[in-house]
Amino acid sequence: MGVDVSFGSEIAEREGSGEMEGVAVWGKYLQVENVQEMVKKDPSAIPEIYVREEKDKPSVGDDSPLTSEIPVIDFSALISGEECELRKLDKACQDWGFFQIINHGIQEEVLQKVNKGAADFFGLPLEEKNKYEIGSDDVQGYGQIHVVSEDQTLDWGDALILHMFPSKLRKLKFWPTTPLGFKEAIEVYSAEVSKIAEQLIGSISLLLGMNKDRLLSLHEEVIEMLRINYYPSCSRPDQVLGVSPHSDSSTITILLQDEDVTGLQIRHNGSWLPVKPIPNALVVNLGDALEIWSNGRYESIEHRAITNEHKARISLATFVYPHASAEIEPLESQLDGQQCKKLYKKMSHGEFLKNKMMQKMDGKAHLEFAKIQYD
Ligand code: OGA
Ligand code: NI
Repeated sequence: MGVDVSFGSEIAEREGSGEMEGVAVWGKYLQVENVQEMVKKDPSAIPEIYVREEKDKPSVGDDSPLTSEIPVIDFSALISGEECELRKLDKACQDWGFFQIINHGIQEEVLQKVNKGAADFFGLPLEEKNKYEIGSDDVQGYGQIHVVSEDQTLDWGDALILHMFPSKLRKLKFWPTTPLGFKEAIEVYSAEVSKIAEQLIGSISLLLGMNKDRLLSLHEEVIEMLRINYYPSCSRPDQVLGVSPHSDSSTITILLQDEDVTGLQIRHNGSWLPVKPIPNALVVNLGDALEIWSNGRYESIEHRAITNEHKARISLATFVYPHASAEIEPLESQLDGQQCKKLYKKMSHGEFLKNKMMQKMDGKAHLEFAKIQYD
């Protein structure tokens, strides 16, 4: 079987099959200025290339009453099999595509350590951080990805991106050795998040009318990528975006967000709603792979991040997605014996991802590639 791409640039031998996986080649990202450094040099400067078109400018400080409606799922009730929590999850997935989980079992200390490590890492001098700079043909490391053209409006943020699972994809040269203990904190946090992700995918599998393990097994191998975002403060948060509107290509994404600074916004019924942090909760959003598998029952949701005038914001996003060779297409259980129109074609997740990564982030435009065109 011709396996074309794998996310990351290693050539890894697949366990069991002895098959070689190809190298991901989707063109190089343009290198752009480090935002944190730019702000440090001149906190009032907003170069034109960061200024959004009028229609995309965020209105800052509007508190919609709907914010408080973003569902909160009790993870411990969910995994102990409580039917009403499972129903709540179904509703959250259908009506929102975004929810927060509490009682997830990750110790507060683990969250604090990884948050503190991230804050200290971004606090290091640029030369130190640049030791982990994203390679020219890589998607791991420190810097920015997704910049594909010189006239693309840039995001007000930097990131450290690391492959976490399967652990054979880890490239230790990108794992910061300073601050001390950060690497370990990342590892402990990610192992915990990984367990939560598998449980959530198990619950979603049940909701899609399959047995608990089925959805996970369709991943072939669960891939997890950690993206630690750093959004420097911005003197004009109404002009820029920390991250452009996009949906994630994952199955689900699990986000640990800064407790003190609100920045994440989701598109809900046409308007942008802030996701107010709940201390120690994790934010979960559904990604494109799940939209395709569920034939649109569970849609991936567009989201973006805004910046704060006075404070920097840090978030840790863990993207949980199928192996590049996993074929994704609407599940039989969702087609209802062909009663429902099949909305997406079959393709490998690698092919889907490659297509997405070659474009700038532009809402859900990249999903068109997967849609079946009916006249
Ligand atoms: C992402 C993302 C949102 C945030 O990294 O894909 O959407 O709040 N981040 O940082
Ligand atoms: Ni995202």
